[in-house]
Amino acid sequence: MTTTNPAPAGTGAPGRATIPARHLRTDSWWLQPLITVTVLVGFIIYSTIRAFENANYFAEPYISPFYSPCIVDACEGDSFPKLFDGPSFISPALYILLVPLGFRMTCYYYRKAYYRSFWLSPPACAVAEPHSKYTGETRLPLIGQNIHRYFFLAGLVFNAILTYDAVLAFRDAEGEWGHMGLGTLILITNATLLWLYSLSCHSCRHIMGGRLNHFSKHPIRYKFWVLVSKLNGSHMKYAWVSLFGVALTDLYVRMLATGAITDPRFF
Ligand code: FES
Repeated sequence: MTTTNPAPAGTGAPGRATIPARHLRTDSWWLQPLITVTVLVGFIIYSTIRAFENANYFAEPYISPFYSPCIVDACEGDSFPKLFDGPSFISPALYILLVPLGFRMTCYYYRKAYYRSFWLSPPACAVAEPHSKYTGETRLPLIGQNIHRYFFLAGLVFNAILTYDAVLAFRDAEGEWGHMGLGTLILITNATLLWLYSLSCHSCRHIMGGRLNHFSKHPIRYKFWVLVSKLNGSHMKYAWVSLFGVALTDLYVRMLATGAITDPRFF
């Protein structure tokens, strides 16, 4: 019995011009993936060091977003109810890491960014990728990226908690209400950026307007869908700005906690 080999696909398909070069681009196409790798690796290194530091995450009345909600008895500050007594050598940041990490790792925008820049799949438009096969997200482990919609919902809970932290930041060091410092402004900005990032999420847009046959029969959902669609157009921007926001907020709290700076008070 004779077997026929399937015709080559992709750039090797019959009728396609044979171009041995990986690409014909003459611009700096490699710059964007390089910047993405540099920024993401920098954030991963900084956040890992901070998560394991297990110190300098609270400076009355501010708490670092890396450590909030702080749920173990050993937590500094009183921003969140203590839920259990974990071993003191485990940093409180590690108990809550999964939600923000999983939310960002499975984000549609970040997926595009790290597939391109870390796995070169492909590194840029019209630049061939080094892999011979492409299976997309149709099987394990990448099919697990579908969990994003649940991380989105969990992320909303975290946003609410960080917003609560920003409200608590209207107290002074003695716990008296009606005060505001630069740290208050920074925590409010951080929470706002996180809300913009979450509400511009593709899963959020689907929750608002997905699975509908007639928008005319669901005017309220249509209004929300229009609003979220507008935000969704800037999702990439919110993804980056909120990432920097979290890191800079943590850095500010750390500098206060170590005594490197003092918090300017507005009133
Ligand atoms: S798509 Fe980016 S957070 Fe959902």
